[in-house]
Amino acid sequence: MLQTALRHGLIGLLLTTPALAAPNAAQRGKAYARANCARCHAIDRRSESPLKIAPPFRTLHQRYPIDSLQEALAEGIYTGHADMPAFELEPDEIHDLLSYLKTLE
Ligand code: HEC
Repeated sequence: MLQTALRHGLIGLLLTTPALAAPNAAQRGKAYARANCARCHAIDRRSESPLKIAPPFRTLHQRYPIDSLQEALAEGIYTGHADMPAFELEPDEIHDLLSYLKTLE
């Protein structure tokens, strides 16, 4: 009786444990982009940028090698455009964001 209950408990636990794999860097980068960049930039493969003059993220690699953005992001992106606020990202956030951008190439 107790054993059965324990066994059921164990199975229930296994079933409710969230996916063991932590979200990967690209997924975190996407979440970051959605939270911080998506109100102006298109961050997916298809849509238009909500702010027309902001380049969709999928086109960035046509203008720069994605890795070259690392430095710009680390120093705080400054585009010389008043519409784009300055951002300073942590190294981890940069890594995640670049991983995501590479999935759009
Ligand atoms: C308030 C709107 C806004 C937000 C939020 C925003 N951007 Fe931008 N971004 C722009 C605009 C507008 C441009 C185009 C600037 C230009 O071409 O002068 C731009 C350009 C860029 C460029 C290209 C720079 C260049 O020199 O061509 C990059 C890279 C970029 N944004 C990254 C980001 C990232 C990463 C985020 C989120 C952390 C973000 N942006 C959030 C408006 C925004």
